[in-house]
Amino acid sequence: MSGPFPTLKTDDFILRELTDDDLEAISSIWGSPDVTAKLSSGPLSHEESVQMLYVLRSLWDNDAGIRWGVELDGQLIGTCGFHNIKTSTRRGELGYELGYEFWGRGLMRRALCPVLDYGFNILRFERIEAFINVDNDRSSGLLKKLGFVDEGILRDYAPTPKGLIDQRCLSLLKRDWQAL
Ligand SMILES: CC(C)(COP(=O)(O)OP(=O)(O)OC[C@H]1O[C@@H](n2cnc3c(N)ncnc32)[C@H](O)[C@@H]1OP(=O)(O)O)[C@@H](O)C(=O)NCCC(=O)NCCS
Repeated sequence: MSGPFPTLKTDDFILRELTDDDLEAISSIWGSPDVTAKLSSGPLSHEESVQMLYVLRSLWDNDAGIRWGVELDGQLIGTCGFHNIKTSTRRGELGYELGYEFWGRGLMRRALCPVLDYGFNILRFERIEAFINVDNDRSSGLLKKLGFVDEGILRDYAPTPKGLIDQRCLSLLKRDWQAL
């Protein structure tokens, strides 16, 4: 993963590199208790949002992944992309979040289609995984609509401020995606 950051365009969205100018939007999204209720951390303070933006941007710079800012009508409404990329085993982990006021419109489902294409065709993944909290029904619903298969529960999988919690693993194989 080298060279210029790849911008992806659809009829609705521009998926683009995150910049320092996105801090206010990132802080608003990640500072929301609604958005972070089913995540392992959050809501984030302003300082933690600065760190989050840095972490998301660093993925590309460090060859560790890629996180796009999802822009709709000139506004950053969320982010999505891959982390924990394993080039030797051709797999990557999908992550995403959407500002609360944009939920329930199918926006993330549409934004993820070019991202999954990019993962399978450009990053050459054979398998894309997602790990979500067991009670994150919106997220598992979104993934299943995209063709992900629920592989079950991983016990004590994710560290949180309250201790280790179980997570659910869902995966999408390249052959599943190509068959859709
Ligand atoms: C996960 C998350 C992105 C899902 O966003 P969302 O808007 O609820 O999900 P979708 O984009 O799939 O939208 C689907 C919903 O919109 C509705 N919808 C409205 N218009 C639609 C359309 N044109 N197409 C599809 N769905 C539409 C659907 O009925 C569906 O609602 P339902 O699940 O109650 O049936 C969002 O809940 C979120 O940001 N959560 C916090 C972060 C998170 O959990 N990240 C995952 C950790 S890896």
